[in-house]
Amino acid sequence: MASKFYVEGETRAARVEDLFAAIAPRYDLINDLQSFGLHRWWKRRLLKLAAVRPGEAALDVCCGTGDVAFALAAAGATVTGFDFSEPMLQVARHRAGRFSGRITPPDFRQGDALNLPFPDAAFDVVTISYGLRNLADFDRGMRELARVLRPHGRVLVLDFGKPDNALWRWGYFQYLRWLVPVFGRVFCGDGDTHGYILDSLKKYPAQRGVDAKLAELGFAERRVVNLLGGVMGINWARRGAG
Ligand SMILES: C[S@@+](CC[C@H](N)C(=O)[O-])C[C@H]1O[C@@H](n2cnc3c(N)ncnc32)[C@H](O)[C@@H]1O
Repeated sequence: MASKFYVEGETRAARVEDLFAAIAPRYDLINDLQSFGLHRWWKRRLLKLAAVRPGEAALDVCCGTGDVAFALAAAGATVTGFDFSEPMLQVARHRAGRFSGRITPPDFRQGDALNLPFPDAAFDVVTISYGLRNLADFDRGMRELARVLRPHGRVLVLDFGKPDNALWRWGYFQYLRWLVPVFGRVFCGDGDTHGYILDSLKKYPAQRGVDAKLAELGFAERRVVNLLGGVMGINWARRGAG
């Protein structure tokens, strides 16, 4: 049965907000456990590909508790972290205290990724990790990411992927179906919080679909980086001069 946090249609965003409000206090812990700590490595790959230069303006959309936003700031960027979940942002703001004096803290702002409150061409780098899959409107979310990017700016998407190898994909989907919900049950009292991952992934076009959409949006320079045989995917693209 599908997770109660995954619904199609108009109430999708509200359910996703409920989901992240429920898991915010345990989000970082469960991330470490369910990925065997690997999400830290995947995020480091994202950062390396972003090749941020000091002073660049970076936007991390769906920033959650701030992993990528803090890493962008540590690389010298001026960072805006953006998310619609106040409980997730509270954890991010609390974590900022740990970096005090060492980095310029990201400016964490609340709002909807489908309606970014930033002018066109405002950022050199736009990242979204484990966020795009959650948006109620994939096309609109992608258009917003592209809109706020400057000429020559880079956009990077990290998310659960869909491996090409059918056997590997089957094994990985079994892990998401049977084992990952156990983390939700143990730490959040509800297996549906993490059953949501597989439900949302099934409907998500993943690395190949993101690449196709980036091409459609006019990004000629693109890369797809498959991690762990495509279990995770990073899409990188650079905007042209126009
Ligand atoms: C799985 S978390 C990812 C957090 C962080 N980027 C990371 O990699 O650990 C997804 C985040 O997307 C946010 N989110 C989902 N839909 C959103 C939307 N429409 N607008 C803004 N944030 C959204 C959620 O609140 C949540 O914090």
